[in-house]
Amino acid sequence: MITGGAGFIGSHVVRLFVQTYPDYRIVNLDALTYAGNLENLKDIEHSPNYIFEHADINNAAQVNALFDKYKFDGVIHLAAESHVDRSISDPNAFIQTNVMGTANLLNAARALWKGNEDGKRFYHVSTDEVYGSLVETGYFMQTTPYDPQSPYSASKAASDHLVRAYGNTYHMPFVITNCSNNYGPNHFPEKLIPLFINNIKTNKPLPVYGDGKYTRDWLYVVDHARAIDLVFHRGRNGETYNIGGFNEWQNIELVKLLCKEMDKRLGREPGESEKLINYIKDRPGHDRRYAIDATKLNKELGWYPSVTFEEGLSKTIDWYMANDEWLNNVTSGDYQKYYSTQYQ
Ligand code: NAD
Ligand code: DAU
Repeated sequence: MITGGAGFIGSHVVRLFVQTYPDYRIVNLDALTYAGNLENLKDIEHSPNYIFEHADINNAAQVNALFDKYKFDGVIHLAAESHVDRSISDPNAFIQTNVMGTANLLNAARALWKGNEDGKRFYHVSTDEVYGSLVETGYFMQTTPYDPQSPYSASKAASDHLVRAYGNTYHMPFVITNCSNNYGPNHFPEKLIPLFINNIKTNKPLPVYGDGKYTRDWLYVVDHARAIDLVFHRGRNGETYNIGGFNEWQNIELVKLLCKEMDKRLGREPGESEKLINYIKDRPGHDRRYAIDATKLNKELGWYPSVTFEEGLSKTIDWYMANDEWLNNVTSGDYQKYYSTQYQ
């Protein structure tokens, strides 16, 4: 079972598994919140090894019924509320889904696998944000103490702790990965890269928080999916692996690069899109810098990003330029309300 398979990263994981493992039965459990979109999986929806289940991880009865129906031997858990800004305006939804939803899945897996844990695996997909914020130097290691700073990262940290506690207390076979910022096709345009591509395309202001000197480590989403495949199959039981792009960018430098690339695509004069940059009030509690050390994953399982940032960004921009219908569908309705409240 893959949870959250209709979302950004989940859809890339589902596609990779459906295409790579014809002998697996892959069940995608997703509640189709504002972030879930079956359009993301149009190309594989009729594959014989793929099943979609519309269900909510907050509903324990629904979760238990699905474990009973399919007798899952592996869970890759991605379903979550994922946007930091939304966690600042509505923390409860994050506590509910990310903590209680994860607990429901753990309880169902525990009940099904009890006494028969061999060959089973609960894979929890987490974030580098659980480690808190770095200053100019240093990297997040697997041993870095947790220090989450936003309701989102605190809820993800809580779910990581629960997974480890179930491993320790009930012998739940698990792995956890903590990944840096992803980008790529099908990314919901509330996050920096797709939001700014869409705004440049439609000639809207680019809302840069604070001084713009916040730093993130960007990874192409398909490389995250490749890492998940490797860790799911070959990661050591009870271990944590950090995943990152070896690719740090200050927001403002990244925004200028996006503007430059978009100028070329849109036939604008060089520098024209940069005029849209608009510094606005900072995100409360904004983490200054994330940078992740993914050496363990590289050394143990030979993983390294396959796509350079230049290639990945170019593919991503091309995808957003070619997929007006997808963008129009996800930016109508509720998105407009969210946008005007967030950036009023
Ligand atoms: P997303 O917001 O794009 O997708 C989340 C998916 O989960 C959606 O399909 C949504 O419908 C589903 N979902 C939400 N609540 C649900 C519920 N109660 N029951 C069932 N399904 C539900 O998120 P994403 O960016 O693809 O992130 C996926 C996972 O990866 C999350 O756990 C996130 O914390 C983690 N992560 C994300 C990033 C990133 O850069 N986006 C980086 C590291 C880790
Ligand atoms: O590090 C992994 C995390 O990356 C994931 O766990 C989260 O699910 C994912 O949303 C992402 O969190 P960030 O907060 O880093 O991503 P976001 O795209 O929201 O913001 C990236 C940076 O850009 C951050 O410093 C805030 C800034 N920003 C963002 C938005 C949306 C702006 O300056 N303006 C904006 O409008």
